[in-house]
Amino acid sequence: MKRIFSGIQPTGDIHLGNYVGAIRNWVYLTGEYDCIFCVVDYHAITVEYPIEEMRRRTLDAALILLACGLSPENANIFVQSHVREHTELAWIFDTVTPIGEVERMTQFKDKAKQHRSNINMGLMSYPVLQAADILLYKAGFVPVGEDQVQHIELSREIARKFNGRFKPIFPEPQEILSMAPKILGVDGQSKMSKTLNNYIGILEEEGEIWEKLRTAVTDVNRVRRNDPGDPAVCNIYTIHRAFSDNNMLLEIDKGCKTAGIGCIDCKKMLFGNLKNELTPIREKALALGKDMGYIEDVLAKGAAACGAIAKTTMDEVRETLGLYIP
Ligand code: TYM
Repeated sequence: MKRIFSGIQPTGDIHLGNYVGAIRNWVYLTGEYDCIFCVVDYHAITVEYPIEEMRRRTLDAALILLACGLSPENANIFVQSHVREHTELAWIFDTVTPIGEVERMTQFKDKAKQHRSNINMGLMSYPVLQAADILLYKAGFVPVGEDQVQHIELSREIARKFNGRFKPIFPEPQEILSMAPKILGVDGQSKMSKTLNNYIGILEEEGEIWEKLRTAVTDVNRVRRNDPGDPAVCNIYTIHRAFSDNNMLLEIDKGCKTAGIGCIDCKKMLFGNLKNELTPIREKALALGKDMGYIEDVLAKGAAACGAIAKTTMDEVRETLGLYIP
């Protein structure tokens, strides 16, 4: 079976973008691939974070993955810092990665702007650690949202550089995009993200979700109810595409263009579908939350299985590098 690897940062609320851009796709792919999913805590420490919340956020991220449909039966789920080889391989990859390549990463440039007072080496080396995450397991495929594509390209470049300089032991991983690889935030401007606080969390209460939807930006040219709108530029329509069936999409497309359906009606239709999909996830998350021991067991099992693969790869890497192995 072909192997996939993907990861998510434990940065607090997991939002609709993470869900349709990544997690829901991970669940779809479990039947076809040998799956490894990781809560990447070492990635999350490259920016300031509340230390006292990290443990909880990490367990919550794992809990959400399970609530969305992943399980120890269909995937290995673990925490990055529990398999030490990730950072070890990242160091080795640092030595084959040209600085110019990491400096041109869009995410690095964005984060460097957002965190001017803390532009640290980790922020720069972030995609190198990401390459190590993937290649430690020799995963050939990486299901991610659009914002991560550049990092996967760099992973290929790093694999190529390593293979060329030493010995060809790593595959060049390919990204797998979901049907909604870029969900915009409720501001209608930027990608939905935790940092920009323009997100709808997948575990939020219905009332909170509706409030965010109600006030979300739509087609800015549609000022009055009777103005025709353009679904192609409407933020709400992009979310509809991820949660509504074809019949509803056709109805909205036509209704929006002819002003037969107003923005609030359109949002209500979306809200209905969001509720249908997210309510069972929230209920499952609540149930799982009563037994955190189970989550810890799942993560321990995942770390043991992944740790064994990681050790084999690192033994091979050390030998390939010509290091003295006693
Ligand atoms: P992270 O934690 O920012 O996001 C997790 C996943 O969610 C996707 N995503 C989105 N998709 C569509 N629309 C959005 N608005 C949106 N926001 C986020 C992301 O593309 C991602 O797939 N660097 C990674 C984590 C990582 C990783 C890895 C991923 C570390 N190592 C190895 C793959 C392989 C990140 O910060 O994801």
